[in-house]
Amino acid sequence: MTLQAHTLTAVPPDDFTEPLPSVDIQTFRFVMGSFASGVSVVTTIDKQDQPRGLTCSAICSVSLDPPLLLSSVSNHSGTLESILTTGKFAVNILGSQGQAVSQLFASGAEDKFERVSWEPGPMTGSPVLQVTVAHAECELYNAVEAGDHTLLIGRLVSGSTEQDRMPLAYWRGSYGRLDQETAPRAS
Ligand SMILES: Cc1cc2nc3c(=O)[nH]c(=O)nc-3n(C[C@H](O)[C@H](O)[C@H](O)COP(=O)(O)O)c2cc1C
Repeated sequence: MTLQAHTLTAVPPDDFTEPLPSVDIQTFRFVMGSFASGVSVVTTIDKQDQPRGLTCSAICSVSLDPPLLLSSVSNHSGTLESILTTGKFAVNILGSQGQAVSQLFASGAEDKFERVSWEPGPMTGSPVLQVTVAHAECELYNAVEAGDHTLLIGRLVSGSTEQDRMPLAYWRGSYGRLDQETAPRAS
């Protein structure tokens, strides 16, 4: 059964106010691209038991209890429908060596999973890649359509980290690495 995404609509303006116009796409890209992120590959197994996946930098933590994360996936993504159908996915957070993997999973290549090392996650069967600093297996908790993307909210059912690896960073359209000499922990 495919989970239907709820639709997130704009808050209606007061009776006498017109909604303000949106910024153009380039401004949106410049502004949001200035928010430095990591890079993940979101994966699943489709109904035909085939692995599917896409590069996704739009992920964030949502809730501690229950443990929820969010991944924003384009409605044009071929992987999205499989996740909505199976209700399971994995988020693979790429390590500093993962730039080629990021480019591969952002491409339309048919043989993505033949070109990387991976294994089925023990809880969901979703592909877990090797070049990661961490991964999470999730059960789909909710899906909300917002504009041309769908917010996939996943409840973590498994996760692990590689403490000795550094992450791949992404900022203003370029890949980067974190300096080893980072500031003291925030908490
Ligand atoms: C660094 C990077 C970050 C990306 N982040 C996202 C994202 O957050 N959400 C998304 O839907 N697509 C994102 N993409 C684009 C998808 O990876 C790309 O459209 C992919 O081909 C979709 O694959 P699919 O159609 O097989 O699912 C990103 C691409 C790159 C290179």
